[in-house]
Amino acid sequence: MMGAEDMGVCETGTGPMIEVSGLKKYFSLYGGFWGAVRKVRAVDGVSLAIDRGGTVGLVGESGSGKTTLARTILKLTKPTEGAIRIDGVDITKATAAQETKMRSEVAVVFQDPASNLNPRQTVESSIIRPMIIHGVKKSDARAKAREVMSMIKMDEHYLRSYPHQLSGGQLQRIAIARALVLAPKVIILDEPTSALDISVQAQVLNMLLDLQESMGLTYMIITHDLNVIRYFSDTVAVMYLGKLVEYGLTEDVVGNPRHPYTRGLMGASPILDPTHRGRVKDLMPGEPGSLINLPKGCRFFPRCDKASARCESLEPHDVAVGPSHTVGCFLYDGKKAGDKG
Ligand SMILES: Nc1ncnc2c1ncn2[C@@H]1O[C@H](COP(=O)(O)OP(=O)(O)OP(=O)(O)O)[C@@H](O)[C@H]1O
Ligand SMILES: [Mg+2]
Repeated sequence: MMGAEDMGVCETGTGPMIEVSGLKKYFSLYGGFWGAVRKVRAVDGVSLAIDRGGTVGLVGESGSGKTTLARTILKLTKPTEGAIRIDGVDITKATAAQETKMRSEVAVVFQDPASNLNPRQTVESSIIRPMIIHGVKKSDARAKAREVMSMIKMDEHYLRSYPHQLSGGQLQRIAIARALVLAPKVIILDEPTSALDISVQAQVLNMLLDLQESMGLTYMIITHDLNVIRYFSDTVAVMYLGKLVEYGLTEDVVGNPRHPYTRGLMGASPILDPTHRGRVKDLMPGEPGSLINLPKGCRFFPRCDKASARCESLEPHDVAVGPSHTVGCFLYDGKKAGDKG
């Protein structure tokens, strides 16, 4: 007989809320030279854990695989390999009933308000739709819609509005309200504030923090803005060409970055100039590599000013540089955790 573990199930209510291990997502690109199929290794062996009520900030340049990682966790795309446990259940092996439950437990807010809401539907229709799909009675769904409007501090009359009648900040609040209706445990926020003005960004981030506290939510936030990471997340994962190159508590990763890529990002950060509206991708020196023709050794090697001969031929593994701080770089191989890098 199969044990719970064999079925991809472990005890819920304990352990991390999200646990990703060895996750890979490769896309096939057809139509290359002689019809060759090329692999885009968008996510290439990612492991991370998010504690209940915690927030992981995922940062990295454009095209590093952040949204693909999020979409794979959301089961919007099928992983190539690896496990994703949500509240103890491996969703890659979930039964239909477990999958329905998971879909109500994990919500998402995307960057572009237009992609979160249907332009031809009233705000109320957009908000109640996920509940109707999950079998909630229409009258109950409408009552819940009024409740979530008060949670996001917007008047009920906005339920009758259409998306084009609302500002970007209001639309993102509505998208958050819509994410809340099924009482999720986790919300994945993919650049939730990067399309908003700075003053509105702060309001939306503060609202998300209040909701996290009152509802015990677990967040994964994707952002190019290290100010947002510093303000919002307790843990940071730095992604480069499909892999996490540095992972640890925000104070360690932002306060004492170890990987040459993270150091480059910190140097490129608009932190020092709060009026700078540039995104990390515009500021980090050098060109990101390609996910199709990855270097044989360390994938950051071609851009790294600290590279040595072995970086060209060998892939570094994760090294602990602190109690919960890991770096995938040969610079720290052989050093004891806690040594200054
Ligand atoms: N459906 C798909 N088919 C083929 N390639 C894809 C697909 N989705 C994503 N990719 C590729 O995977 C890579 C990672 O894309 P992804 O959108 O995850 O990056 P990202 O880190 O979110 O970037 P950004 O910061 O610009 O949002 C890119 O090279 C992208 O072209
Ligand atoms: Mg993205």
